Amino acid sequence: LGAGALSTVGLIGLGVMGRNLALNIADRGFRVIGWDADPAACANFAAGAVATDLAELVRDLEPPRALLLMVPAGEPVERVIDALRPHLAAGDLIADGGNSHYRDSRRRADALRQAGLLYLGLGISGGEAGARHGPAIMAGGDRAAYARLEALLEAIAAPAGGEACVAWLGPDGAGHFVKTVHNGIEYAVMQLIAEAVYLLRHLGGLTPPEMAGLFRNWNRGVLESYLVDCAAAVLAARDAGGGPLLDMIRDRAGEKGTGRWAAVEALELGVAAPSLAEAVAARAMTAAPRGNAAEPSSPPLDGLPADLEPALLAAAVCCYGQGFALLAAAGREYGWELPLARIARLLQGGCIIRARLLDGFAAAFDADATPGPLAHPALAAQVGAGLVPWRRLLAAGIAAGLPLPLFASTLAWYDATTRPRLWADMIQGMRDRFGRHGFERIDRPGQHHHDWGEA
Ligand code: 6PG
Repeated sequence: LGAGALSTVGLIGLGVMGRNLALNIADRGFRVIGWDADPAACANFAAGAVATDLAELVRDLEPPRALLLMVPAGEPVERVIDALRPHLAAGDLIADGGNSHYRDSRRRADALRQAGLLYLGLGISGGEAGARHGPAIMAGGDRAAYARLEALLEAIAAPAGGEACVAWLGPDGAGHFVKTVHNGIEYAVMQLIAEAVYLLRHLGGLTPPEMAGLFRNWNRGVLESYLVDCAAAVLAARDAGGGPLLDMIRDRAGEKGTGRWAAVEALELGVAAPSLAEAVAARAMTAAPRGNAAEPSSPPLDGLPADLEPALLAAAVCCYGQGFALLAAAGREYGWELPLARIARLLQGGCIIRARLLDGFAAAFDADATPGPLAHPALAAQVGAGLVPWRRLLAAGIAAGLPLPLFASTLAWYDATTRPRLWADMIQGMRDRFGRHGFERIDRPGQHHHDWGEA
């Protein structure tokens, strides 16, 4: 080190994501220097020079310096920031490209600002391949920090519709919040797909290779999306013995937390996003002890594949709608003014939830920046077209004893958004009966109590 030009960016954390992102950055003509606490990770680094320690890494950077952290969320990020700070000078920039909790990002943005440093929280989506060839990047933090890295970020991000899939979405934790909601939607759509396969197996009698063909066809139509493509690959994969790989995979799902964060956030902000929460619960159901009831058997249901395509689209649109409703509410709560139309376009490339159906959301938010979840006629029409088949297959599945948590709760959400009257009159009556919580009346304003007499 020491000879020649200084590096543009110092990348800390040379695991798979960090390494791939560094190769992507280097391919675009930016000089990158890396460091990792693990010597084995350093040995595998081919995108640029490797520093022997943080001091050397910082010395090799053009001032004001830009450091990109690709370390696991939580404590590791804290440790690296603490270790870096003595080496940094006012105006240097720390970008966190991990799946950090947005509350941590808010706190760090604040603490670093007070220390004269700039902070950028980057929600990066697309897995290994995305990091290498073009991820979607949801940026939050200091606008000046974004401006400084904008050219680099635009160069490495995936393109979609003539734009790079990266944008500054708001201050402090805005980028990581949007990534969290992205993951909430990711969980929900994955669960819908898993339930579709479950139905096709049990009520359709289809084999994994047959389903792979069906998913490949769907991916050429309205359902075109990364996750449908990914599902086709899983269904088509063969095990070493020649049989479907799917039959050999234990049906027990793990999770690393970000989908759960989205559901918790919806609960805390009072946003009805049951599909996001149900998807987390559905993973937990697979991990819990299970009984050994006989597999449901019922005669094959005619027309199931044809019903599933519009039903899956309708349900997926509802899940994205819940995610955008959560973004709108968080934007109001935290004063972020999240650009929903830009977010819908940014998610069309590079990320795990990229899907053709996002066109409808981009158009909806272009027309009205703050609509209800499905206020745009095109979105409502997409859901409307899937409703009859959705009810039909859900009813058949329930009658056969198949648990279909996401299809069921998402439909309940949709129906609840469309009915003028629901059930809350009873809730309010009971709250007043036992706790004098009060209720509004339909015939006059104000809060009212009934005289319940002796409790
Ligand atoms: C992505 C993904 C990724 C995410 C996992 C979720 O956008 O590339 O969202 O960042 O963390 O896919 O992982 P779990 O299912 O293990 O929680």
